[in-house]
Amino acid sequence: MDIAVAGVGYVGLVTAACLAEKGHKVACVDVDVEKVVLLQRGKSPIYEPGLEELIRKNRERLLFTTDYAAACRRADVIIIAVGTPEEPDGSVNLRYVWEAAKQIAQTVEKDCVVAVKSTVPVGTSDQVERWIYEHRKHPVHIEVVANPEFLSQGTAIKDTLHASRIVLGVESPHAEKVMKEVYDPFYLPYVVTDRKSAEMVKYASNVFLALKISYINEIANLCEMVGANIEDVAEGMGMDPRIGSRFLRAGIGYGGSCFPKDTKALRWLADGCDYELKTVQAAMEVNESQKVKLIEKARTYVSHFRGLEVAVLGLTFKPGTDDIREAPSLANIAVLLEEGANVRVWDPVGMENAKRVFPKEITYCSTIEEAVANADICFIFTEWPEIRQFDVRQYANLMKTPLVLDGRNCYSLASAREAGIIYESIGRKR
Ligand code: UGA
Repeated sequence: MDIAVAGVGYVGLVTAACLAEKGHKVACVDVDVEKVVLLQRGKSPIYEPGLEELIRKNRERLLFTTDYAAACRRADVIIIAVGTPEEPDGSVNLRYVWEAAKQIAQTVEKDCVVAVKSTVPVGTSDQVERWIYEHRKHPVHIEVVANPEFLSQGTAIKDTLHASRIVLGVESPHAEKVMKEVYDPFYLPYVVTDRKSAEMVKYASNVFLALKISYINEIANLCEMVGANIEDVAEGMGMDPRIGSRFLRAGIGYGGSCFPKDTKALRWLADGCDYELKTVQAAMEVNESQKVKLIEKARTYVSHFRGLEVAVLGLTFKPGTDDIREAPSLANIAVLLEEGANVRVWDPVGMENAKRVFPKEITYCSTIEEAVANADICFIFTEWPEIRQFDVRQYANLMKTPLVLDGRNCYSLASAREAGIIYESIGRKR
């Protein structure tokens, strides 16, 4: 099939590369000239393991352009995968979706299906269809489908090629048939429903995962108080298939561009219906306090941070990405700087992005050793393999005081004890 993808962010680019891998011809269009030029040279503008290779492998079936007409004119299916940033009140800014819809309306010259893959509030796909129909330049038949995505950064290609489900929100058998032609080569289970329900599946899924994380974090906090071990507790819970073992890793809270935004957007949607989503509100509050949990713990060892040498390991909101949006590390570094600490950080790929947030105030180190040398305290905010594999004894050797506060439970308690470090983690007895 001839497919166009509007927006070469995470979702658009990964989707396009995977569709090309399955044999479709895919034209990617974006208004960002710099990104398009990079892609034309076979370079990925985003950090995602395996993506550049997949783009290069399928370059004959992939086209990158800034010209909507070139991409959409003759496409069978046009996928909208532009960003939907958050507004200060928690609502979703749909500016880029409308811009894409406008371009599509003006450029399509044959019947097609437009699939909205961006995460959009319930009801948006209906509005997009009405709008495109009213503004289309040629008398063609255009149907809009809600087609949310469930890929995670860091594992995006695997998540797309081997997705748990393809959700299709359709209003006609024709649209369903066309979308199945797109996805049949993936051999994945379908959920076919109406557009609004499909849009809701996306929010309800992401927010459920956020709830699961906040719940396990609260249980972890309680484990600390009563002397239980959260890892064993989570293992015991996760073996029950009704609960499932994934997203039960206690830590310092969720970050990233999705969970924080989607929880707020769902609350905003409910507010508009005069309905209070109490569980979601609670999950958000737990997450905010969990983010600074390690700072609280550190205060039981030091009376202040002023003048202390503080090592920070891990900046990104999770391993496998260079994304630091809403990362718990940011809230913690802000407190440390505000209170006068000298902060030295190490992250394998997140430091370039961090330099935009903290250009001068912190020292960027090229190795873990450099960050922890002579430090008074070390905080761990992301469970990168390099940090997990770092020899715990090195903290004792290199730090001024071996006080390690680990927000992602990277080490066994036994190895910390053996190394003779003061080790605080989440939800575990010391
Ligand atoms: C999330 C969803 O997992 C995807 O299914 C969805 O498609 C995506 O949002 C999106 O809406 O685009 P992502 O934000 O890439 O994906 O990251 P996750 O792997 O879900 O992690 C989110 C946060 O939760 C991270 O900060 C991670 O450290 C934290 N987390 C995750 C935990 O604290 N504990 C866990 O057990 C799992």
